[in-house]
Amino acid sequence: MNKILVAYATNAGSTAKIAEAVAAELAKSAEVDILPLEKVTVLDEYSAVVLGAPMILGWHRGALAFLKRNQDPLSRVPLAIFVTCISLTNTLTGTRTDQASLEGVPLFVDEKLPRAPKKPGRLSLKERYATLGNYLQPILKAAPAVKPVSIGVFGGSLQYFNLQWWAALFALLIIQAQPGDKRNWNAIKTWASGLFKE
Ligand SMILES: Cc1cc2nc3c(=O)[nH]c(=O)nc-3n(C[C@H](O)[C@H](O)[C@H](O)COP(=O)(O)O)c2cc1C
Repeated sequence: MNKILVAYATNAGSTAKIAEAVAAELAKSAEVDILPLEKVTVLDEYSAVVLGAPMILGWHRGALAFLKRNQDPLSRVPLAIFVTCISLTNTLTGTRTDQASLEGVPLFVDEKLPRAPKKPGRLSLKERYATLGNYLQPILKAAPAVKPVSIGVFGGSLQYFNLQWWAALFALLIIQAQPGDKRNWNAIKTWASGLFKE
């Protein structure tokens, strides 16, 4: 058994494309299934799992629920998580973004994504909202039995025209994000190519 599952949730489609890129990279050395979360029915036939989803009012609700619900099987295989988002405050001063960690979990942060706070040491509400800790701690808390081998944090894509009105309103008012495609395919491939090597 050497089959890897790449499972993902998406709201507007950009995370699905990232999941495809991760799967393509992994497929160079293993058999890979790629499935949207709602189509995942079995986990025990996989030797490793990648779970990816965007920040949508916290990490995608479906992904959090999936992680909680499958805590038991996911704690028995190497699990890598990836998170897509549009804004990230750089709280990693002096640390290379591919060598950071949170609660002992190695992080791989797309180096093009983090923005320095306007006043280091005094983050605004929006900057505090967009920190790694605020994004990732709820994911780790949701499934304490699971210890991911890595969490990748990548830029996603935000296009207002393909959002529902409530989603556009939230993105505009709360995260005040500029639309655009921040996906960095090199960072995504680099992360995927280093997974499950031990
Ligand atoms: C309602 C909503 C809430 C979002 N919340 C955040 C957020 O808190 N932080 C962030 O950086 N990006 C946030 N985003 C941006 C998305 O994470 C980003 O656009 C992502 O690439 C969407 O992935 P998808 O195309 O797979 O749905 C939000 C987008 C929407 C529509």
